[in-house]
Amino acid sequence: MTALRTRVLSGIQPSGTKHLGNYFGAIKQHIELAASFPGEAYYFIADFHALTTLRDADELRAATLELARTYLALGLDPDKALLFRQSDVPEVTELAWLLATVTGMGLLERAHGYKDKLQRGVKPTVGLFTYPVLMAADILIYDATLVPVGKDQIQHVEMTQDMATHFNETYGMGKELLLRPEFRLSEASYVTGTDGQKMSTSYGNTLPLFESGKRLKKLVGGIVTDSTPLGEALDPERCNVYALLKLFLDAPALERVREHYRTARRDGEPFGYGHAKLLLAECIERQFAPARARREHLLQHPEEVEAVLRRSAERARIAARATLERCKTACGLR
Ligand code: ADP
Ligand code: TRP
Repeated sequence: MTALRTRVLSGIQPSGTKHLGNYFGAIKQHIELAASFPGEAYYFIADFHALTTLRDADELRAATLELARTYLALGLDPDKALLFRQSDVPEVTELAWLLATVTGMGLLERAHGYKDKLQRGVKPTVGLFTYPVLMAADILIYDATLVPVGKDQIQHVEMTQDMATHFNETYGMGKELLLRPEFRLSEASYVTGTDGQKMSTSYGNTLPLFESGKRLKKLVGGIVTDSTPLGEALDPERCNVYALLKLFLDAPALERVREHYRTARRDGEPFGYGHAKLLLAECIERQFAPARARREHLLQHPEEVEAVLRRSAERARIAARATLERCKTACGLR
């Protein structure tokens, strides 16, 4: 079987409120890819995977719905892309078993993701260890060809390629039962947090999407800057506020801001970090205003979110069943 079309797929962990790093590092590309490959984008909320680290049922349910709302609010078009819960397609766990039987222990033992999680104190369960097998099943069951991921997930996609090859060699009799996917690393892969480190939920340095008004100003006000007094020249390249402004402003607007930094003046008035922060808060507020309004609407209409999740899962299951049948027949289970 050779892929004649591009099918995009990614799984997203339902964990807390998404932030600017998640948007510019992942979500934005997902939405753009869905527009570029209408009908061929499969996005799912990785709730099976979330169970390896999240043990609170209410929290998982709430995080799952919030993630679905986030994608829809930010503009994912549910007529062009599928958005579903991983667990609504239980066939993936069956394929994961078939893959597990052809996957060497050594392959999983080399996984950086597993080692990183142990270091962060996550309990070493069998589920955490075999996480990459379920992830491979997620990708392979939909015949996905392109998997947009962050850097930390590249190895998992490479392991998926290996599992597809092993499975094809074992059961394919010269045919490609499973398609080998490729990963795609997003371009804007580094968003700075309020403390100057990489923005991440685990560092508590995030600017959450959908924040506005006073709370947003307060969070932006907390961005770490040096103690240059108002009126003295500032270096934009060493400023955490400027690093974030770059995500929002076009080249001419950025050049004007650089000039304000260098001269410490704007329109004849002094310009300092406080002014840069206000500008950033305005940019965030403005850019996400339509998404905030759509999210409010979806909060009032949870049935609309649920309908998208269900409809998408039904369509995803059709693709999943076809692959699973093909594989089960090849293994002698049919
Ligand atoms: P967190 O670090 O907040 O837990 P995740 O690890 O769940 O975020 O990341 C989800 C997605 O968002 C990944 O694709 C990841 O690459 C992207 N992402 C997260 N933080 C950033 C960041 N600071 N800059 C760019 N992309 C990011
Ligand atoms: N492991 C991914 C993450 O933590 C989530 C995920 C699960 C995924 N299944 C996937 C990503 C399949 C891409 C394809 O971000």
